[in-house]
Amino acid sequence: MVLLICAATLWVAGLSIAETNNGATEMVIPSGNQGDVKFPHHQHQEALKDCMLCHDLFPQQAGSIQDLKQKGTLAQKQVMNKQCVKCHKAKKEAGEKSGPVTCAQCHVK
Ligand code: HEC
Ligand code: HEC
Ligand code: HEC
Repeated sequence: MVLLICAATLWVAGLSIAETNNGATEMVIPSGNQGDVKFPHHQHQEALKDCMLCHDLFPQQAGSIQDLKQKGTLAQKQVMNKQCVKCHKAKKEAGEKSGPVTCAQCHVK
């Protein structure tokens, strides 16, 4: 009986881990004529821990940035300026691990 309860607990724990959807490991974010932007998603999750540092602006859904930009809810360059570049600059200034801050390091034509 005790064994059965243990097994059931493990099964439920395993299930809830499996249900966390962390999305794709690597992504490409479209940005019109400017050229696509490569984005290492899981590397950011590990470095930053907090999903809401990004997902307060757009939901955890593939293509959501593009959708919201088309609807006009998100301005062009809003994610870039308010998140990507802003955070990379702040981290760089703080002398911490950071990401690219120049156009061509992100936008690949
Ligand atoms: C540094 C920014 C950033 C952080 C932090 C972040 N994400 Fe994302 N996430 C993105 C971007 C960018 C997209 C792509 C949106 C798009 O396609 O328009 C995305 C998309 C997703 C998607 C949908 C895409 C897919 O492949 O299914 C899921 C699910 C997701 N994120 C989960 C998470 C979870 C869970 C966390 C926290 C553990 C997290 N994200 C943290 C930037 C981030
Ligand atoms: C850290 C990566 C990064 C850097 C550095 C960066 N961008 Fe971006 N840029 C993005 C991402 C991601 C998007 C798409 C999301 C958005 O529109 O905010 C984007 C979107 C854009 C758009 C809007 C395209 C469209 O059609 O909606 C323009 C224009 C742009 N960037 C120009 C620039 C210029 C010019 C520079 C250099 C001064 C630059 N970017 C630097 C990541 C970056
Ligand atoms: C809240 C802070 C934060 C935000 C928002 C953020 N980044 Fe980063 N980024 C980092 C940090 C920290 C690193 C260094 C991670 C490491 O070295 O493990 C990084 C590294 C990178 C790298 C280099 C990866 C490598 O090692 O080759 C790229 C490319 C990048 N970011 C793109 C983006 C883009 C595009 C966005 C916006 C969609 C974005 N980042 C949003 C903090 C952020």
